[in-house]
Amino acid sequence: MFEPLTPPNPDKILQLMQMFRADPRPNKIDLGVGVYRNAEGVTPIMRAVKEAEKRLWESETTKAYTAVAGDPAYHAAMRALVLGEAVPSGRVAALATPGGTGAIRQSLELVRMVRPEATVWLSAPTWPNHPSIIRYLKLPIAEYRYFDSGTRDVDFAGMMADLAGVRQGDVVLLHGCCHNPTGANLTLDEWREVTDLLLEKRALPFVDIAYQGFGDGLEEDAAGLRHMATQMPEMLIAASCSKNFGIYRERAGIVLALADDPRRRELLQGNLAYLNRQNYSFPPDHGARLVTMVLEDPALRADWQAELEEMRLNMLKIRQLLAEELRKLSNSDRFDFIARHRGMFSRLGATPEQVEAMREKHGIYMVGDSRINIAGLTEETVPILARAMIEVGM
Ligand code: LMR
Repeated sequence: MFEPLTPPNPDKILQLMQMFRADPRPNKIDLGVGVYRNAEGVTPIMRAVKEAEKRLWESETTKAYTAVAGDPAYHAAMRALVLGEAVPSGRVAALATPGGTGAIRQSLELVRMVRPEATVWLSAPTWPNHPSIIRYLKLPIAEYRYFDSGTRDVDFAGMMADLAGVRQGDVVLLHGCCHNPTGANLTLDEWREVTDLLLEKRALPFVDIAYQGFGDGLEEDAAGLRHMATQMPEMLIAASCSKNFGIYRERAGIVLALADDPRRRELLQGNLAYLNRQNYSFPPDHGARLVTMVLEDPALRADWQAELEEMRLNMLKIRQLLAEELRKLSNSDRFDFIARHRGMFSRLGATPEQVEAMREKHGIYMVGDSRINIAGLTEETVPILARAMIEVGM
C-alpha cells in the first residue's frame, strides 16, 4: 500500500527550525521561523489573552461542539477587526479555520470548487507554503514581479506589467501587510491602482493578512485591503490570529468571503461550512474564543492593543538599530532599506553561500533566501548580526 511513497518536498522554514534545534552552540541566533520574541528572547502569552484564558476557565461549562463554520461572535469580531466599516456585514461570509494556513487552504479549496482552471497569481517571492498548497490542490500558478532586489523595495512597475496578463476569473494573491518574506509593502495609492486593475480584469483578489498590527498599526495595516473591499464585488481574505494575538499553537484563523448580493453570500456561507465539514468538521474553538473575548471586552481590548503596539515598536526599534549599525560598519547607506521595511521580516540580499557562512561560522540562522525574522534579534544580537554580514562580504 505505502510503497509508492517518496519523501515530500522539504519545507525550508520547518527544515531550518530543526537545524537550529540540533545546533549545540549556546550563542546560536534564530532568525528563521516567524515567531515574535521579546527582548528576553521569549514568545510571551499576551496579558489580555492570559486574562481571557483565566476567565474562560472559570466560566466555560461545556466543550460541546460550536457551529461547523465557527462561532458567529468570532466571525463578527474578526470581520470588524479586519474589515472595519469598509463593507456591510451582509456582504461577508465567514469561516473559522485552524490558523491562517487553514484559511488559505479553505479559500483555495473554494476556488478549486468553483473554478479549477483559475490561475492563482503569486508575488515573486512569496511565503513558500502558498505555492506548495496551490500545487497540492493542482491549481495553475503564475507569478508577478514584486521585489526589486536592487532597491529592496516593491517593483511596482514590474508588478503592474505582469498583472496586465491576468485573465477574467483568475485569482491574485496579495499580502495584506508586512510582506513575507521581503518586508516591502504596497502604499495605499498602489493598492488603489491594483484594485482598479483587478476590477478591470474581473479577477478575484485573495488577500492573506497574517501580521495585522505588526507593520504601521492595526488600522493602517488593513487600509489597503479595506479599500479593495469597498470596490471589488467579490474578494477572499484569509486572516491569522497567530501573530497579533500570540496564539500560534491554538490555531485560530478565519476566511472572510465577500459577495455582491445576499443570495450569493448565503451560498458562500453554506459552501464554506461544507468545506469545514469535509476537511475536519468543526474548527478549533479555544483560540477563537479567546480572540472574541479580548476583542469584545473594552478593557482587555485596550490592553491587547497596547501590548501589540509595544511589540510593533520593538520591531521598529530593532530595524533602526540594525540599519544604523550596518551604516557604521559598511560606511554606506546600502542597508537603510531594513529601517524602511515593515513587519517581522526583511530579505537582506545575501547569497546562499553568505547565508550558509553566517550559519556555519556565526551560528546565525536565517532562511536560505536571506529572510530574517526581525523579532529574533535583541539589542545585544544586532551588532553580532551586523558584523557577521560584513564579515561574509555583504
Ligand atoms: C513564517 O513564515 O515563518 C511563518 O509564517 C511560520 C510558518 O508557518 O512558516
